Parts: sequence; structure tokens; C-alpha cells
Amino acid sequence: VRRIAPYFAELGLPCPVVPTRVGESFEAQLEAALDSGASAFSFTFGLVPQAAIEALRRRGMVVLGTATTVDEALALEASGVDAVVAQGSEAGGHRGTFLRDARTSQIGTMALVPQVVDAVKLPVVASGGIMDGRGIVAARALGAVAVQMGTAFLTCDEAGTPAAYRAAVLAAREDETRVTRAYSGRAARGLVNRFMREVDTGRDDDPILPYPLQNALTRPLRAAAAAQGRSEFLSAWAGQGVRLARSRSAADLMIALAREIEETETRIAR
Ligand SMILES: Cc1cc2nc3c(=O)[nH]c(=O)nc-3n(C[C@H](O)[C@H](O)[C@H](O)COP(=O)(O)O)c2cc1C
Repeated sequence: VRRIAPYFAELGLPCPVVPTRVGESFEAQLEAALDSGASAFSFTFGLVPQAAIEALRRRGMVVLGTATTVDEALALEASGVDAVVAQGSEAGGHRGTFLRDARTSQIGTMALVPQVVDAVKLPVVASGGIMDGRGIVAARALGAVAVQMGTAFLTCDEAGTPAAYRAAVLAAREDETRVTRAYSGRAARGLVNRFMREVDTGRDDDPILPYPLQNALTRPLRAAAAAQGRSEFLSAWAGQGVRLARSRSAADLMIALAREIEETETRIAR
């Protein structure tokens, strides 16, 4: 609290307090998901109980879990999911790592996807650094049946991305992201900014609470930064493909992706 109080003061916020309530209960979230009418349920940060998987299946949902290593993919397969998302270290935001330390689980998408494809019998969804039709074709060449894209949609018109965050993504270069625990206490990739540099210096004794406590602690700061357009205090999650981000509607992005897949396949066939 002492470490981050000066930043709160800079944004005109009262001194932060140690959070006591850190989020929704899993049961409440699962209940909401079951009632949502969605056709797919995708989770991260671990395994979900067998009973939950069965309940989701009974509602006709496809259940996907997130893996950042082959061992995690095998654990997910054993837990009964329908498909595995292989999430490479290029990915923006938090990653699902749950068996080992985040630092030893930084496997790039190009290396991770075929190793997961070889290890599991389930369909594999590739994720991390995929920004256009070329990336989608590459993921399919590695054995993935589908892709999951995050950063590419942050700058779509419909996204709720705050203006300062959106502008930072559109201006960013591929060497301007890094993995940090500063905002949430859990490793996540975002655009390097002042808060990240000053709070997470990479030392083991940096005063950062474990996830989700740090996340709750910094929430008011991030909200105020978004409202005040102060990008130096925003958790601007973004992946290494950031230079390829485009500003357009989601529909136009989807149309462009379909066109680029065809162009790429034609180019390779030639
Ligand atoms: C703003 C944002 C927040 C994210 N939050 C999470 C998260 O909480 N847990 C997780 O496993 N992945 C999270 N991700 C990663 C996505 O699930 C996905 O794997 C990633 O965006 C794919 O890589 P790309 O960003 O290069 O497209 C997040 C991504 C973004 C852009």
C-alpha cells in the first residue's frame, strides 16, 4: 500500500486500502455462465471441477481450457474438456499458466502449438500473436483447428477499450510490450509504461501482492487513469503482434481476415 499510495495521490484518489473482497465466487460466475445461453465456455488459470464441465455440457456448451505448456494441455484433456487453447507467450494480457512458474512457461505460439497438437487427441485452438490472415494460416499449418485473437480486437470500434489505451496500442511497436506482475500480481503482457517500470523492477522482493489481491488493490488507480486519459497508469494489455493492430469495425476485421486467409493460401499454392 505504501508503495503505490503516491500514484493514487497523483490521480487525486484517496489512499488505497488493503482489499478484503477480491472478486466474484466461482460458483456465482458458473451459474451466470450456465444461464447465459452461450454456445461455448472458455476458462483459464487452471482446471474446473468435473461437475462444472458436465453441467456446461448438459446446456450444450463446448468447453475449452487454456494451456501454456504440454503438461497443462494433458491435464486439461484428462479433466474432460472438449478442446484446448494453446496460448503462446506472445499473447496480450494474462496467460493461463497453472502448473509451473510463469517465467518457465514462456513458450512461443510457433513452438507450443505443434507440441500440444502431438500430445493431445483433442482439437487445439492456437492463441498468441495472431493478428491477420497470415497468422491464421500459419496456425492451421501447425495443426490448430481454430485461433483465438485478443489484441487484434482491442482497436475495433465496438471494443470498450479506453481512448488512451486504444491510442497507445495503435502507436505501439513490437518491442514495447513486456510481462509484468505490477498491476494484478499475476504475469500479464502489456505495453510498457511508468507504473510497470517503477513497481515491477523484476526483483523477487518487489512489493507486489499475489493475484488477485494486487488486481483489487490497483483497480481504482486503473479506473481513474482510464477516465483521466493517463496512459502511464493503465494496464494496457497487448501482445507482441501489436504493430499489426487495425482500427475498424469488428465486421470489417472479420471480412479482411477471410480475404487474407485466401490470399495467403493462394500465395503458398503458387
Ligand atoms: C485485454 C486482454 C485481457 C486478457 N485477459 C486474459 C486473462 O485474464 N486470462 C487469460 O488466460 N488470457 C487473457 N488474455 C489473453 C487472451 O485470452 C488471448 O490468449 C490472447 O489475447 C491471444 O494473443 P493476442 O493478444 O496476441 O491475440 C487477455 C488478452 C487481452 C488482450
